[in-house]
Amino acid sequence: MVLLLFIKMKRIVTLLAIGICSASLLSIKYKNHDDPTYYSIEELRKLYSSGDVSLWPKATIDSSVVNFKEIGILGSIPFPEENPFSKEKRALGKMLFFDPRLSKSGQIACASCHDPALAWGDGKPVSHGHDRQAGIRNSKSLLNVAYTTPLFWDGRAQTLEEQIEFPVKDPAEMANHIDLATKSIKKVKGYKPLFKEAFGDEEITKERIIKAIATFERTITSKKSKFDLFVQGDAKQLNDKELTGLHLFRTKARCINCHNSGYFSDNQFHNVGLSYYKRKYEDLGVYARSQNRADLGKFKTPSLRDVSKTGPYMHNGLFPTLRGVLNMYNAGMPNRIVQKGYENDPMYPRNSEILKVLNLNEEELHALESFLEAISTTVYREPAPEVLPK
Ligand code: HEC
Ligand code: HEC
Repeated sequence: MVLLLFIKMKRIVTLLAIGICSASLLSIKYKNHDDPTYYSIEELRKLYSSGDVSLWPKATIDSSVVNFKEIGILGSIPFPEENPFSKEKRALGKMLFFDPRLSKSGQIACASCHDPALAWGDGKPVSHGHDRQAGIRNSKSLLNVAYTTPLFWDGRAQTLEEQIEFPVKDPAEMANHIDLATKSIKKVKGYKPLFKEAFGDEEITKERIIKAIATFERTITSKKSKFDLFVQGDAKQLNDKELTGLHLFRTKARCINCHNSGYFSDNQFHNVGLSYYKRKYEDLGVYARSQNRADLGKFKTPSLRDVSKTGPYMHNGLFPTLRGVLNMYNAGMPNRIVQKGYENDPMYPRNSEILKVLNLNEEELHALESFLEAISTTVYREPAPEVLPK
């Protein structure tokens, strides 16, 4: 009896000891895994270029994060069933994309603000459209737009097909109505054969114009970056600094909480502190269209592919350099602490809780910036059509 009890006790003690040991081992690993010195650079290189994402070091993700998808390559272009790809439709869409006759003045094309030579944006803080009027937001690069939804900084369009009516009718952009734009395209005889090739007959309709432009837009994609080749197994593509930047992006710098998936965006909306509440440049983001207080100051997370080419940055284009943006994230972003006098204001846009003061040192900031360069490429350009249909 006593012996039996003794054996049992011994077993319990052993089990307990094993339990404590493994728990402490785990906690050591857990405590340090997002410390940049936890893995050697050789280990990081091996894991990240293994071609097997399940071997990558654990990313630092907040429990509030929804729709998390690991960063990686972009798959093949998704075309919707209602508007499948064809070469002919794309060729027609390209003509229309570059054709200023879609606008009221006959002078502004989609390509005026989404210029292939300017990474498919316009390089300005905010766009200038009809009568050179300034809009309120920074033009978005159309690179990889097939991979994201909803569209716009505030997500007001669900699909590319739905999106096209917005710039055509915006008084500060093309100042036209899609029906009037359709009328002017109908007058151009030279378009008839292009519609026939794309759709089977010469009829020119609003729906066909929209489908063709959307098909063209879906083919605007980034070239493979050094990062893409690296994670697919070419371990020499990233140097030590870029690789350190990749690891920081997923861990200590916390970027991956929002900039994730192959598109480098979670397609969600966050307030990162740039709504300029009650000041010049005030823009309350999604709230301005939803009137829902939970949306105050929220904007859609932009992709970071080709980001070194798509400045100036943020919805208002007020930030000319990537380094400036990184310094701001490092400090925890503006309005981290509610400004004096606004503590009880229910309309005060409150920052996302995902943002923290990062304490990245100079070397780490450099590494992060080199990583952003490594997901950027020589931007794919499309030569403008030499002549438009007459
Ligand atoms: C006067 C400049 C201007 C013109 C012309 C223009 N756009 Fe835009 N475009 C913008 C701006 C500015 C934004 C961002 C606005 C916002 O999100 O609130 C934008 C956003 C977009 C987006 C959303 C991208 C994303 O990632 O969410 C698409 C798609 C787009 N434009 C396509 C087009 C097409 C197609 C045309 C022609 C029919 C066109 N644009 C004409 C300035 C312009
Ligand atoms: C809480 C989510 C969140 C986190 C975390 C986050 N971002 Fe962002 N990021 C956004 C949103 C939302 C915007 C657009 C904000 C705006 O325009 O008001 C943005 C914009 C940017 C832009 C501007 C891109 C452009 O085309 O204008 C860059 C660059 C950027 N982030 C890099 C980073 C880096 C690097 C990190 C990590 C240090 C990071 N972000 C962390 C959500 C986030």
